[in-house]
Amino acid sequence: MTVSKPQIQRDKDGIQIVWESGRHSSLPHLWLRDNCGCSDCRIAQTSEKKFILADVPVDLEPSTVDLVDDRLNIVWPDGHQSSYDGAMLRSVGADRSVTWSPWPAQFVPQRFDFRRFLSDDRKAAECLREFRDKGAIILTEAPIASGTLEELAPRLGPIRELLFDRIHDVEVDPSGYNVAHTALPLPPHNDFASYTWPPSVQALHMLENETTGGESIIVDGWAVLAALREDYPHYFDVLCRMPVPFREFDDNNETFAVAPIVRCDVDGNIAGFRFSNQLMQTVDPNDARTSEFYRAYHELCRRVTDPAARSCFRLDSGEILIVFAHRVLHGRDAFEPTGRRYLQDAYFEFDNVKNHLFVLQQKGVA
Ligand SMILES: [Fe+2]
Ligand SMILES: [Zn+2]
Repeated sequence: MTVSKPQIQRDKDGIQIVWESGRHSSLPHLWLRDNCGCSDCRIAQTSEKKFILADVPVDLEPSTVDLVDDRLNIVWPDGHQSSYDGAMLRSVGADRSVTWSPWPAQFVPQRFDFRRFLSDDRKAAECLREFRDKGAIILTEAPIASGTLEELAPRLGPIRELLFDRIHDVEVDPSGYNVAHTALPLPPHNDFASYTWPPSVQALHMLENETTGGESIIVDGWAVLAALREDYPHYFDVLCRMPVPFREFDDNNETFAVAPIVRCDVDGNIAGFRFSNQLMQTVDPNDARTSEFYRAYHELCRRVTDPAARSCFRLDSGEILIVFAHRVLHGRDAFEPTGRRYLQDAYFEFDNVKNHLFVLQQKGVA
């Protein structure tokens, strides 16, 4: 309900304002003091906060409060004066979380030209927005050269370096440390579940694909989890709580992490998916939660491997598949190792990708 002028009320905890639009703000006294923007409370050079809450009593209340010309003005008992812009007070708390929606039927990642992605800011912004929303894109016409993924750093980077290699080679290799180094099918998974913070972006660059079979598979993991949550909320809860060990190793490296398969943010939104059948280690069978966990994990495995959940396509040489790895799982069909299939992958972080998109938006091209 709109009002003719802003209504203001205070009690011992804070100040309540009903703005002309009818929107409410509830502003605790300590929050207001902590968010004073004056030059005594902020470092002018960096706009970082200098004031620290320990300098005022916990039961702090303003001496005077008024709201004039869309500014909230406060004098505190020690004489300090704070003035807050109404627009700032109304916009604070606006949602900056990632928006996503499940893939449409028959989804295949949109393809963008590799060179244009690097050289054309407008195209890059379009591509990064698609990546943010769908969690998967393909770059085409990339050089067929080892190390090409380094060139993506200005748009996605820096590279998130992990053990084993900076750029990982994936081809049939009898001494390889992972099922990816065989011609076996690779069920949908994300990489390095064995890290406490697995890499959140993965780029897979196909250099040679002369085999039959070996189609690429991706799965919208968050869509699978959202549907599971809807159908079996107690299974979803178990997957959020049960600690699961993951390990990836070779003769010279050892990575190991224990974490639940599903991570939610503080509001309960799905924020991370850790799924790797091949890296998962033995769960303690004596843990009282294990049998319920296994029922939940069975249902999850069934859904992740369901052909209906897959987007399948052939990744040709010169193509780079990029996935938001905390959401999208990747895998491949088995192949006949009659010709060479040679892939390189490297990792990045989604926070940095969002930064590049933000900077392009600031430049006005997005
Ligand atoms: Fe992988
Ligand atoms: Zn101040």
